[in-house]
Amino acid sequence: MWGIIATWRMAHDGIVAAKEMLTKKATAGDALETTIKTVENYPFYKSVGYGGLPNEQGILEMDAAFMDGDTYKIGAVAGIVDVANPISVARKLSEEKFNSFRIGQGATEYAMLNGFEIKNMLTPRARKIWEKRVEEIAKSNLSPYDGHDTVGVVALDEHNSMAAGTSSSGLFMKKRGRVGDSPLSGSGFYVDSEIGGAAATGLGEDLMKGCLSYEIVRLMKEGMSPQAACDYAVYEFSDRLTKRYGKAGAFSLVALDKKGRWGVATNVEFTFSVATKDEEPAIYIANPGPNQTTVIEPITQEWLDAYEKRIKAPV
Ligand code: GLY
Repeated sequence: MWGIIATWRMAHDGIVAAKEMLTKKATAGDALETTIKTVENYPFYKSVGYGGLPNEQGILEMDAAFMDGDTYKIGAVAGIVDVANPISVARKLSEEKFNSFRIGQGATEYAMLNGFEIKNMLTPRARKIWEKRVEEIAKSNLSPYDGHDTVGVVALDEHNSMAAGTSSSGLFMKKRGRVGDSPLSGSGFYVDSEIGGAAATGLGEDLMKGCLSYEIVRLMKEGMSPQAACDYAVYEFSDRLTKRYGKAGAFSLVALDKKGRWGVATNVEFTFSVATKDEEPAIYIANPGPNQTTVIEPITQEWLDAYEKRIKAPV
């Protein structure tokens, strides 16, 4: 069996590419890296890689992580700048015994020293959106925080190996040095090839309060299906956080187990893409349903057309 699941519609082209690889017996790590790089390279996605929206000072700081489910090797970067593919740097770092999670200048230097592509990641379009937002905030005292749609992926290959990974430019207008859940093991991602894996998108500050990716893997270990584990972890925690902290930010998680079964849960409208040996790559839309369940439906052409228009709308 093979399978791959990823957060958001933006991951779909990468999932289609990964399917071709996984059917030819590529590793989960290679399929995952291809999926995330496809998102990182596309200039119209505002929350990942090239075209991502910058921090308060107009600097695009990116976070990414890679985890190998066979060995538990993890590599991560936070606040990396001017590097084309943070996921590839994170994957390379996962091979290091020490110093495998690098931040800021240390992360960028590691990428340069190891021959990764150095690139100005702030597109003119992203800069324009930032300038407009700075102006709006100055005029209307708006809250600076906006979108934060991480690409999070879990992959299983024909060799029964699994990998998980994330890449994100984090919150638009974040403070310099702010790091979300995406590079944090257990919060943004977690995978164990003998159980399954999970990955997250949403408000990092709240996701890290619940370590939801690890929690989902733990629940799958106890025998829950990926869907039951996602439903329980997300809705129970969303309710608990609301009760204890006063509110819960938006968050959504995807999971895949070692048999290629998948699950999703979310406290807001959420799209994702999935493919397995038995299922062609497809985009779905998920919403919180009644009694701590998730309603999952195929995406409509109307939704896709509106999305295409929205991401390419003139600034
Ligand atoms: N989930 C991405 C972030 O909060 O940075």
